[in-house]
Amino acid sequence: MRARNLSAIDRLIINLDQGVRTVFGRPRGTGRPNPADSLSETDLEERQRRVAAGLMRVNHAGEVCAQALYQGQALTARLPRVREKMEQASREENDHLAWCEQRLTELGSHTSRLNALWYVGSFAVGAAAGLAGDKWSLGFVAETEHQVVDHLDGHLQRLPERDEKSRAIVAQMREEEGQHATVALEAGGAELPGPIRRLMRLTSKVMTLAAYRL
Ligand SMILES: [Fe+2]
Ligand SMILES: [Fe+2]
Repeated sequence: MRARNLSAIDRLIINLDQGVRTVFGRPRGTGRPNPADSLSETDLEERQRRVAAGLMRVNHAGEVCAQALYQGQALTARLPRVREKMEQASREENDHLAWCEQRLTELGSHTSRLNALWYVGSFAVGAAAGLAGDKWSLGFVAETEHQVVDHLDGHLQRLPERDEKSRAIVAQMREEEGQHATVALEAGGAELPGPIRRLMRLTSKVMTLAAYRL
């Protein structure tokens, strides 16, 4: 009983630590270089810079959510066969997080002021998905990633043509989110019911609108 309590507290502390690191610090990624590093900065008009910053802020907030979802799921799901692969995906999300943050700084902007809120909400959703069982939990990851791919396609259309740096980051993310979806499906993820998928789209729409400005 005592050992169980300790391990629950340990897990809580580890999760708190991860959350604080994601929202306020530098979480551990894979160490890959930022795909925008090899590209040179182009002159953007003020309006273009604002659009790019808004979109990259949304993407950064999305990556905060991705971290929280993975952490929440890890807390409640066993995922024995795929733990390693999901951990790899989670580290890649941390690369995305760092790349978006760097780009926001270069654009003279800031990350979403609501990141702590996004984290807490997504953590709870992830934990609930984990409780529903591995099949649904993995299905949830796959559906999330599919929606993110659609969303990033939209961003590639809206980002200023000249903002090659932001575009390189988003293109690389898009590629990898698609791979994360495949990994989750191959690991046994089930297709989610339509109403849940629609609810997820609606939730991300609200989040996107808020994070673009705040
Ligand atoms: Fe990502
Ligand atoms: Fe992903």
